[in-house]
Amino acid sequence: MAQQTMIVDVNNQGKVVEPTLYGIFFEDINFAADGGLYAELIKNRSFEFYEPMMGWSEPQEPSAYLSRPEYGSFKPITKMEDVPNRRYAQITVTGKDSYLLDNEGFRGIGYKKDLGYNFSVKVASLKGNVTITAQLLDSTKQVIGESEPIAASGDWKYYTVSLVSSKTDMKGSFRLKFTGEGQLDIDMVSMFPSDTWKGRKNGLRKDLVQALKGLHPGFIRFPGGCVVEGHTLDERYQWKNTIGPVEDRKTVINRWNDERKERPAYDYFQTYGLGFYEYFELAEDLGAEPLPIVNCGMSCQFNAKELVPMDELQPFVQDALDLIEFANGSADSEWGKKRVEMGHPEPFHMKFIGIGNEQWGPQYFERYKEFEKQIKEKYPDMKVISTSGPLASDDAPIKIDMFDYAHLRLKEFNADLVDEHYYTTPDWLLKNVTRYDSYDRNSYKIFVGEYAGQSEGMTSLNNVNNWQCALAEGAYMTGFERNADVVSMACYAPLLKNVDAWQWVPDLIYFNNLNVLKSTSYYVQKMYSSNVGNRDIPIRAEGKDLTGQNGIYASATVDDKTNELILKVVNVNDSEFTTNITAKGVKKFKSKATLTEMSGNPKDVDTWNDSQKIVPADSEIKVKGNMIPLSLKPYSVNVIRVKM
Ligand code: AHR
Repeated sequence: MAQQTMIVDVNNQGKVVEPTLYGIFFEDINFAADGGLYAELIKNRSFEFYEPMMGWSEPQEPSAYLSRPEYGSFKPITKMEDVPNRRYAQITVTGKDSYLLDNEGFRGIGYKKDLGYNFSVKVASLKGNVTITAQLLDSTKQVIGESEPIAASGDWKYYTVSLVSSKTDMKGSFRLKFTGEGQLDIDMVSMFPSDTWKGRKNGLRKDLVQALKGLHPGFIRFPGGCVVEGHTLDERYQWKNTIGPVEDRKTVINRWNDERKERPAYDYFQTYGLGFYEYFELAEDLGAEPLPIVNCGMSCQFNAKELVPMDELQPFVQDALDLIEFANGSADSEWGKKRVEMGHPEPFHMKFIGIGNEQWGPQYFERYKEFEKQIKEKYPDMKVISTSGPLASDDAPIKIDMFDYAHLRLKEFNADLVDEHYYTTPDWLLKNVTRYDSYDRNSYKIFVGEYAGQSEGMTSLNNVNNWQCALAEGAYMTGFERNADVVSMACYAPLLKNVDAWQWVPDLIYFNNLNVLKSTSYYVQKMYSSNVGNRDIPIRAEGKDLTGQNGIYASATVDDKTNELILKVVNVNDSEFTTNITAKGVKKFKSKATLTEMSGNPKDVDTWNDSQKIVPADSEIKVKGNMIPLSLKPYSVNVIRVKM
């Protein structure tokens, strides 16, 4: 059992810790939006996937008397005009029996016993009399909920009806039953659970928003990631296509559809039901600063590497300017008006904008310059974020002159923050905890926009969120706090993973059709983000910052509002470590401090079968005057709060 005395200097004015230090990064990867946070249960609801029948099937088996087409038929109709929602389905019912059309949902549909489901469909009746009944099916195709029949008539109209599930089932499906004789057109076949976050109609999954809220994020970076860049420029994220009436948002293929050849997801599209208005609304609900990233006129440099010629870049810059107006502009501005029409008269108070995701090289800076110039001219207070590429340094396995070049070029500009990304080993995190100690204090701030410990290796599909990674992340994050004058934002990546449809591991939060599983990294993020403080002060042993000597990493902050000292101490040793932490500048603490502690074996993982294997636990510590005695468990992350 090693021992040490640590001294924390409360008299020290310290560095300002930004309230945005810990945030979240939402990207539509791993079915995080459609099939995830966005609570829509019907896949390919408007038949816009490149295969119009994707997700749909005609389950009717031929009987002794009738072949299947004799019941009815489905025909995809594609309009030739250039409109966002070009397709609908024409249903013919022969009258011999009901015609059935099933939807498989996103890897099944999760139903909860006694919960209501809100079904809606847009219908135009062409001839005859056909009623539509919505049915909830369990995993054995038994009906567990049925709506009243909808008798549609006349031209295109929306019909809505509610139904209740009599059973909980993780892998159900959905059925439309057409009865009568005649023909009708259907579009926007949609169903949401009635328990969406805040009960919103085009809503989000409540359990997932609650998990995000638990992280107390200071900001939310969205919508990506590589989806911003697109595999090709045509597939890039265009925020203007994601606002306004949901049926007018043009569905596009998700860039992660076939990106991971080992994990193809040919049914991965973006309907944009979760679009920019909803992202801003989510940020507001979470109390987080919205931080959108826009395409900078380049597609992913790992894929098509397309460049928009400089003399055609203006529409891209204009998109960024219009986005700021959409978020913050008044009702009489062109884009502010659209926000107001969507139901948000107040501005969203957007303060940050990121230009490009993970771009590098001279072409990026040529384009970045134009964005920065025009944004700063029109919105001088907007904080503009540049990228420094996908890697932590030029010494990474892919040797391209990205990182050093970026930091060199950035001296020419006025970027407020520079985005760094690293997916790396736990060992790297421990060794690089002093990374920001030597960064220039008089330059741009650092936004660590994507990072995560990788148990097997960068982009390995065998990565897991084991405790070794989360422990190293906790140790590394003490380096963010010690350098709070340089690092003003950081977020783990990626955020969400649908366990049945994913492309990237590890992730912060896992989910299936009904439940949420928080990873070990989630808990570490939560421990830090719930205990930020507003001033970073030194915590030292033998006059030195605690950056791994004797396996101990530490940071200390003060919360001036509550007059509390907050300590984060990480023990990466395989044995207990005892210490006395003495505070300079404090005569006496309150007699009890709270300790939130998480410890386990390096290989431990929280799983569906054992979700509580390693989770934080709270206890009290008796304080002696201005001294806090601590016994740090082996492999532990510890957050201590005490009133001064
Ligand atoms: O987080 C997953 C991906 O990693 C992001 O889309 C991209 O920015 C990075 O390469």
